[in-house]
Amino acid sequence: MAKQPISILAVDDEEANLDPLMRVLGLEGYYVQTASDGLEAINVLQTLPFDLILLDIRMPRVDGVEVLRYVKDQHLDTEVIMLSAVQDVKTAVECMKLGAYYYLTKPYVIDDLLGLIGRALDWKRMIVHNKALKRQLAYGQSSSKMIGKSKCFLEMLDLALRAAPTDASILIQGGSGTGKELVAEFLHSNSPRKEQPFLALNCSSIPEALLESELFGHEKGAFTDAKSMKEGLVEMANGGTLFLDEIGDMALTVQPKLLRFLQTGEFRRVGGNKNLRSDVRIISASNKDLRQATIAGRFREDLLYRINVVTVLLPSLRDRKDDIPLLVEHFLKGHAGQGEPKRLDGKALELLMKYDWPGNIRELENVIERAAVLSQDNMIYVDDLALPLTPRTLSEGGSGPSRGGILVGSAISLDEIEVAHVRGVLQSVGWNKKTAAEILGLSVKTLYSKIQAYGLTEAK
Ligand SMILES: Nc1ncnc2c1ncn2[C@@H]1O[C@H](COP(=O)(O)OP(=O)(O)OP(=O)(O)O)[C@@H](O)[C@H]1O
Ligand SMILES: [Mg+2]
Repeated sequence: MAKQPISILAVDDEEANLDPLMRVLGLEGYYVQTASDGLEAINVLQTLPFDLILLDIRMPRVDGVEVLRYVKDQHLDTEVIMLSAVQDVKTAVECMKLGAYYYLTKPYVIDDLLGLIGRALDWKRMIVHNKALKRQLAYGQSSSKMIGKSKCFLEMLDLALRAAPTDASILIQGGSGTGKELVAEFLHSNSPRKEQPFLALNCSSIPEALLESELFGHEKGAFTDAKSMKEGLVEMANGGTLFLDEIGDMALTVQPKLLRFLQTGEFRRVGGNKNLRSDVRIISASNKDLRQATIAGRFREDLLYRINVVTVLLPSLRDRKDDIPLLVEHFLKGHAGQGEPKRLDGKALELLMKYDWPGNIRELENVIERAAVLSQDNMIYVDDLALPLTPRTLSEGGSGPSRGGILVGSAISLDEIEVAHVRGVLQSVGWNKKTAAEILGLSVKTLYSKIQAYGLTEAK
């Protein structure tokens, strides 16, 4: 991928200092711009971001210490090297406290300065990389492999592999637990951007008021709580990939801003008036039909076209049941760690193949994980599976959930069935309330009130 050259702003009120600097830095391949005092420097910085600033201290209008203060307030990722004839320990200490990378006194040896610039840029790269890493960890990024050999899975994988190396925006559509996040990571790690950040944002879990600032950042004072400038994900993911999960839930107020970014590569921080640029590949995911959402007026049609240059459709687990044995083996291996993986009894596998899997692979993973914990020996039997009572599993010869001991048609009240069923569904999806509500055909709110009414807890 073509990289922009590293940009350096050199600020000094004496032209005689700037000219040789410009020449040497230019020869080193840096993009260099100059400013002849602090005020001019701040003006330039308001329109263009720089990787590094070489900053004189004594200058007319606004001095270097003030510029440093401004930079550390507004451009956290810009490194600053102070270059000054002032040999004053107090000023030097103040600059370091404010966040300058180094304080070099004039006259200096140019090779020393070049070495210093190299180290400051390495430092900056490390900081940016660490920030991205923290975000990645916070999202629970998994490095697990994608398992499957069924025809529809392999077709999906083939499309994903062809789209991955391009910069095309990709929309991943699939039901809950079908592997959307895993595919997004797969696309990134098979793209030329793989060494750059992969950042993710779940658009449904973040309040509307915060979404724009999370995406595009905000300037200091943009709203009451904005005590300092904050970079958004679009800025932090520069060079890499941004994964927008549940994009169908993105507020209508934010959608035009994302559209503009996709069209022009430009954005503004909340409360800011300068256009910033970032080079980010967008991958989105949705478990809703976005076309329906555009008809209902909840999603902009023009945005749908932009995010959807390629659509990757993830099959439901019930449409790729051939993969169940492989997936089970994979999850059992994962559970066993270094030890010997447990095995599945034939009847238990039969039941897994009959079940409908409304919560897809996540549900299967949870069922297997739970069974591996509960089973007494190295084998997993039907009893250990604790699949929820559903018409499908029940109609298949009554081989349904046996751990609770409740069978449909036995002498128990409807209320008891309901409690057992809700509990069973919750357990089988690892208490993921969103998935459980979908399986039960309830709203999450109603599910919460039932959990409360029945006094259900995860331990029960
Ligand atoms: N092909 C696969 N092979 C192995 N594991 C998989 C596969 N697909 C998904 N998984 C696992 O299933 C779980 C659910 O996957 P993921 O979180 O990517 O689904 P999702 O579609 O994003 O779900 P949701 O709609 O709930 O956000 C994860 O633990 C993931 O590692
Ligand atoms: Mg997901």
